[in-house]
Amino acid sequence: MKILVIGSGGREHAMVWKLAQSEKVEALYAAPGNGGTAGEKKCVNIPVEEGDPASPEGMEGLVQFAAREKIDLTVVGPEAPLAAGIVDRFRAEGLAAAGPDQRAARLESSKVYAKAFMKKYGVRAAESRDFTSVVEALAHARKHFGGQGPAKPLVIKADGLAAGKGVVVAENLRDTEAALRSFMEEKTLGASGASVVLEDFLEGKEVSVLAAVSAVPCDRKGGAENIAGTIVPFISARDHKRRFDGGLGPNTGGMGAIAPAPDFTEACQKDFVTNILSPTLAGIKAEGLDYRGFIFFGLMIRDDVCSLLEYNVRLGDPETQAVLPLMDADFAALCLAIHDGSLGNFPLKWKPGAVCAPVAVAAGYPGDYRKGDPITVNEAALAKTGARLFVAGAQGGAGVASSPGLRTSGGRVLAVSALGSDAGEAREKAYRSLEAVGFEGMDYRRDIGREN
Ligand code: AMP
Ligand code: GLY
Repeated sequence: MKILVIGSGGREHAMVWKLAQSEKVEALYAAPGNGGTAGEKKCVNIPVEEGDPASPEGMEGLVQFAAREKIDLTVVGPEAPLAAGIVDRFRAEGLAAAGPDQRAARLESSKVYAKAFMKKYGVRAAESRDFTSVVEALAHARKHFGGQGPAKPLVIKADGLAAGKGVVVAENLRDTEAALRSFMEEKTLGASGASVVLEDFLEGKEVSVLAAVSAVPCDRKGGAENIAGTIVPFISARDHKRRFDGGLGPNTGGMGAIAPAPDFTEACQKDFVTNILSPTLAGIKAEGLDYRGFIFFGLMIRDDVCSLLEYNVRLGDPETQAVLPLMDADFAALCLAIHDGSLGNFPLKWKPGAVCAPVAVAAGYPGDYRKGDPITVNEAALAKTGARLFVAGAQGGAGVASSPGLRTSGGRVLAVSALGSDAGEAREKAYRSLEAVGFEGMDYRRDIGREN
């Protein structure tokens, strides 16, 4: 079969790498892909109009490409094209696509919708209220901070997609007001900040659970419980979002991941299934959402109790780079099962051990960062640990395996993904492998898999 993967990050490189291992796959296309996907076997990068698969031109070009090349299945990586309705466009042309349709993608593209969904279906989450008026939001914040004694922070979430810039944890009224005015009056996030959610602050440790979902609305007469649908969770992971060791510094797109998350205990997993996963599936069915793709549960855990911070309607980045190397199954067959409704019978297994995947970033990231620097890779040193490079922000060359020509182009440049018999060995191998990679100004966190 021929598979088209949409996206250009480290997550998409890991997806292409895993898909290429399937005997079912004869050809892969990455749109637009990156310097890593270009070097994967069976894979060719193809350009995207405007460079953006979420733009109308980009989307139309991809639909035409898939029809012309007789692509059997398209797998969508990032959220923006999903929220823009790319899966609806593909299906309207009779083309198979793995991903939620635009309506189902609101679980990520609207925090107001997602919070209403959580409340309606009893998914455990922080208390919250949503607002379209700054005056009313401020009145709520005044009440929150105005009581006796120190108040917990308040979490302000812009309703729409904001590329990781839509959440502010405010310690006091002044910071809350600044965030509200920036989102709602100065419109720093455009339309995404017109509505906001004000949410209670939860303490604990964060865990990401990625999962496959296959739910297709059918005749509702039999009641929601009779609608076919399943969610199959993957092995857990932890992303490290802060820029510096010890969980300090600004938020980033993710400085590295470990899988499984070391403290996602069995009790926690049970609690997750009962209080988060099952009610989510019930809600997807009851709402009649057409959801055939991936879902990401962003959890806060404390004393083996899980609360949901957010849904994403896609795989996580960089969690995917740590999770897919542990998957002991044919990823192309899994994507097909998601699409054709046979996911419930899919034999999904996981390798023992752990994967650590620290991310190497360009100097200056997450602010303005250097670009265009050549990347060197010592293949012999990498081969010793068996670690893999997943390219995120780098272009050119013929992929990492023959790196001449590969240059940095993004803030998060690449991840090194190492499998060990346990988290300690995975970390040790990952960091040894990073020494085999170099570019001007390269930096990374030294504590991936240790701290939050
Ligand atoms: P989100 O986009 O909703 O995942 O939020 C981004 C980050 O903000 C999360 O990864 C958490 O670190 C933090 N966050 C979001 N909601 C809360 C909350 N209710 N309590 C504490 N931290 C939160
Ligand atoms: N690692 C967080 C995300 O993918 O949104």
